[in-house]
Amino acid sequence: MKVAVYPGSFDPITMGHMDIISRSSKFFEKIIVAIGHNHNKAKGMFPVEKRLEMIKLATKNMDNVEVHIYDGLLIDFAEKVGANIIIKGVRNSKDFEYEQNMALINNSLKEGVETFLLVADPKYCFISSSMIRELMYFKKDVTEYVPNEIMHMLKT
Ligand code: PNS
Repeated sequence: MKVAVYPGSFDPITMGHMDIISRSSKFFEKIIVAIGHNHNKAKGMFPVEKRLEMIKLATKNMDNVEVHIYDGLLIDFAEKVGANIIIKGVRNSKDFEYEQNMALINNSLKEGVETFLLVADPKYCFISSSMIRELMYFKKDVTEYVPNEIMHMLKT
């Protein structure tokens, strides 16, 4: 079975993430959306359990999508869930440069694990979780940047 992992912080999930999940779910039998969580690092805006609930709600109509939390190295998590494909979305050359390094590190840690980079839809190229957090901080409307299903969960 072709299982792919789509990792990220998802703090919170955005329409850009949804686009990558939806497009990649057509090419693999199972997509595991994996929330990277390192308890030595800053907690982020939303607790990981809340991010998990948000993504589950937003992807509830996608039959081949699962949502997990992982701690530690992505490559170890991928091995644990039997995935040899990592999916990443790239919005611009900065993303590409970062993801190229991540793909090379992950491939050197475990041969045979490939990273598939999906070019973001131009209408989502300027959206990021950090931009949403900033807009929320200044009490601006973020309705068009996050899935409808999670709007009610954005209050921290
Ligand atoms: O949405 P983000 O913040 O770009 O997601 C980053 C994430 C969580 C995917 C990345 O930091 C990650 O994979 N962290 C786990 C540690 C790891 O495997 N690092 C790569 C080898 S050094």
